[in-house]
Parts: sequence; structure tokens; C-alpha cells
Amino acid sequence: MKQLRIAVGSDHAGYEGPSHYKPDLMAHLVVKGHEVINCGTDSGEAVDYPDVAERVCRKVLDGGADFGILVCGTGTGMCITANRMRGIRAAVCTSVLMARLSREHNHSNVLCLGRRILSIDECKTIVDAWLGEAESTLERHQRRVDKMDEVTNGA
Ligand code: RB5
Repeated sequence: MKQLRIAVGSDHAGYEGPSHYKPDLMAHLVVKGHEVINCGTDSGEAVDYPDVAERVCRKVLDGGADFGILVCGTGTGMCITANRMRGIRAAVCTSVLMARLSREHNHSNVLCLGRRILSIDECKTIVDAWLGEAESTLERHQRRVDKMDEVTNGA
């Protein structure tokens, strides 16, 4: 697999319990040959997930990273925050199929994972599936992805 630059971030949930998901996932990515950009947090001290999501997504948007991976308790708060940034297509995935289809059909560029939902092994399997899937070049898929950027709230 091509070496990718991946920005990784979590809130304190990434450091809950005996297995610390964020460092475990970063180590997994390095073993797979990727470059990891650590966007914090680096301990179990409570932080606000929107701050971390914004840091990771800025890396993706400014070209400093190819993809972003975010971990919080459920993945939801990270995902909601990330999707407020135009150009970010973040997906919470709880299965390999969701991960693959989020890349293929939705061209997701940020993956959100839930520490309290998935085991660390499930997270690693989902990460590998997500990074291994290409974006569909079918016209209908590209058209729908393009339409995401046209949606506004009228403001
Ligand atoms: C933090 O307790 C928790 O709310 C956060 O990690 C995340 O699950 C929010 O969506």
C-alpha cells in the first residue's frame, strides 16, 4: 500500500481503560508504513473533542495530511465537528463494510472511531479496510460527492 500521511487525534477517551487506543492506532499505522502526524491529545486528562477534531481536519484541508483519524467515546462528537469544515467528509464507522463504502461511495477523508463502541482490534481492522479502499470514479458517485459541497443552510 502507498505510504500515506495520516493525522491522528483523540480526546481523553482515546486514553481510557487498559488499552490506550490513540497510541495503539498510531503505532499500528507506523507498522503499516504510514507517516503519522500526532494532533493530540496525549493523556487521559479531559479535553474538548471539537478542538482536536479541528486540528486534525485542518491538517487534511491544508494538505499536510492525506487522511485524518479521530477517536472519541463514540466517534459522534468528532464526526459532527469534522463535517462542519467544508471539504471534510468524515464518517463514523463501526464495521468494515461501513468503512469501505464510506471511501468508495462517499469519498470520506476522515475516519471517526468510538473507544466505547469498538475493541482496539476492531478499530485496527476498520482502519486497514478504510485506508485500503479507493474512491469510486463512477460519475454518479462523484456527482453526489460534489453535491455535498453545494449544500448550504442558506446563510
Ligand atoms: C467524552 O466524555 C465524550 O463525550 C466524547 O469522547 C465523545 O464520545 C463525544 O462524542
